[in-house]
Amino acid sequence: MWEKGTANSIIMKELEDASSQDYHFCDGQVISSMCTEPLEIARVAHNKFIEANLGNAGLYPGTLDLERQVIKGIGQLLGNENTAGGILSGGTEANITALWIARNITGKKKVIFPKSAHFSFHKACDILAMEPVMVDLNDEFTIDLDQVAAKIDDNLCAIVGIAGTTELGAVDDIPALADLLPEKAFLHIDAAFGGFVLPFLDDSPEFDFSIPQVSSITSDPHKMGMATIPSGALLVREREWIRKIHKDAPYLDMIGQLSALSGTRSSAAVAATYAAMRSLGREGYSELVKQCMEVTDYASQKARKLGLKPVMEPLMNILCLYVPKPRDIQKELNKKGWKVSVAQNPESLRLVIMPHVTKESIDGLFADLESLL
Ligand SMILES: Cc1ncc(COP(=O)(O)O)c(C=O)c1O
Repeated sequence: MWEKGTANSIIMKELEDASSQDYHFCDGQVISSMCTEPLEIARVAHNKFIEANLGNAGLYPGTLDLERQVIKGIGQLLGNENTAGGILSGGTEANITALWIARNITGKKKVIFPKSAHFSFHKACDILAMEPVMVDLNDEFTIDLDQVAAKIDDNLCAIVGIAGTTELGAVDDIPALADLLPEKAFLHIDAAFGGFVLPFLDDSPEFDFSIPQVSSITSDPHKMGMATIPSGALLVREREWIRKIHKDAPYLDMIGQLSALSGTRSSAAVAATYAAMRSLGREGYSELVKQCMEVTDYASQKARKLGLKPVMEPLMNILCLYVPKPRDIQKELNKKGWKVSVAQNPESLRLVIMPHVTKESIDGLFADLESLL
């Protein structure tokens, strides 16, 4: 493949071929992804900072400052502009890091989370040798509080609440979890998806740092934040907590370095996140969320006309529908070019209505769906 160098024109052709086999958000047929087309200005910013590495922060004081501003801005959105944190590779790394910090501070290993939690928490427990304690969901598809209460004991390190579950977009009762939290335990909120949606809803449930017991929050700019991949923010309430995962790296210029799981960290995604936030502003995100919710509502009405029942009234821009044999329907829709997914709990057809999904896409999808029922 690479004994000798290859001409750019050939490489470009090969890249075109590969890309043509991929799905693209701009085609409007991907209704299963929690990512979307980044803003144009975010792409430009990403390219401009393509060589910078925040893992060696001493070389990049400018990027470091952008990251500080991004974290402050996300903090303002999440009820506390004085948090510490950074931009990691995504929700998975942010969740792992949150539990790493909690484990090192409490010295305990038990983590309680709902069955709806993203699989990153299983990865975290595996890597960190922590004890996962999974809790059932109630009729509203949120964490069962009685079960949480029954599972709390002296070994508790952290409770995890989800603000926007991956499958349904449900939000756990975070104030109630906060009330149950023992004094020294952590309360981590996974708002990887909800972080850039819930603050812009007219009627958002409480889930952020305005609840005093909330210790840390994951919120992904590379999902509804319109930034480029890889951008996952972790915000923690107290700056010194981050020191608890610090490792010295004497060969690097560590000034301002974020203690993180990654060594090399994408400055490009930090710059892209900064650009997206500056360009849209809170007003722009608000408009975007409104648009997604309108399309979600539109899809929901179409579904009802076909006699399809939603699993729950969408709180966010995710719509899950009871359909007969969802896996078969998913396959058939895929033959027609659609990418939709299947939720497991309960089994249903799952539509994620990101900004690239328009009413026209929904019309096309439902026309094909109707022909399969
Ligand atoms: C609620 C939630 N948390 C965490 C993640 C993991 O994020 P990432 O894929 O960016 O690692 C996801 C991904 O979909 C998610 O929905």
